[in-house]
Amino acid sequence: DIPVITIDGPTASGKGTLADQVAHALGYVILDSGSLYRACALAAHRGEVDLDDGEAVAAVGANLNLSFKNGHVWLDEEDISEDLRREATGLMASQVAAHPAVRAALNQLQLDFRRLPGLVADGRDMGTDVFPDAGLKVFLTASAATRAERRHKQLISKGISANIEGLRQDLEARDARDKNRAASPLHPAADAKMLDNSAQSIEESTQRVLAWWAQTRPF
Ligand code: CDP
Repeated sequence: DIPVITIDGPTASGKGTLADQVAHALGYVILDSGSLYRACALAAHRGEVDLDDGEAVAAVGANLNLSFKNGHVWLDEEDISEDLRREATGLMASQVAAHPAVRAALNQLQLDFRRLPGLVADGRDMGTDVFPDAGLKVFLTASAATRAERRHKQLISKGISANIEGLRQDLEARDARDKNRAASPLHPAADAKMLDNSAQSIEESTQRVLAWWAQTRPF
């Protein structure tokens, strides 16, 4: 059995950073499932596929030629890392993520990430749908104000200007869509550990998760 830790939660809650730190500490493989939804949306958009057509977008998803190298994501021969992180891509991702056919196509890709010595999977439905048998499930939250500030800092550090109030509205709109969709709505698994990191450093959250993980191990 390959050990799996899932980290789910809303946008800009710090899942990606936490997942990276935990994976690094344990030497585990990482799955950023959001990047698959983003890449699928981007590829469909570039191919002029109607994003409301679930079957057509799912066909794009099933045939994605993605590779992950040194924190960069490649689609066919192109480094798409920068395009993937754009807010517009996140919005398109949440649009295609609402289609059950797209979710089914991408779930298969996600399962293929399981490898020894273990996997840390970050997303919305890692603990509820994709890895229901995970040894540890974390549901990470932070207040909308904290999340808007974090997203703002992230963009500024990349030289992209942004307005906090606008970001907060965008992230609340995306959360609402992710929570209210019929297919795999964002919600904590029944056996998830809840972690609100609004007032926590990355280091503190990482230590919390590692301590939970140590408790699930018999040695
Ligand atoms: O970085 P951020 O948290 O804003 O977004 P992301 O994790 O890259 O995910 C982008 C969008 O993909 C989300 O808003 C979800 O609609 C969708 N998604 C999903 O439905 N299921 C996942 N496991 C991961 C992402």
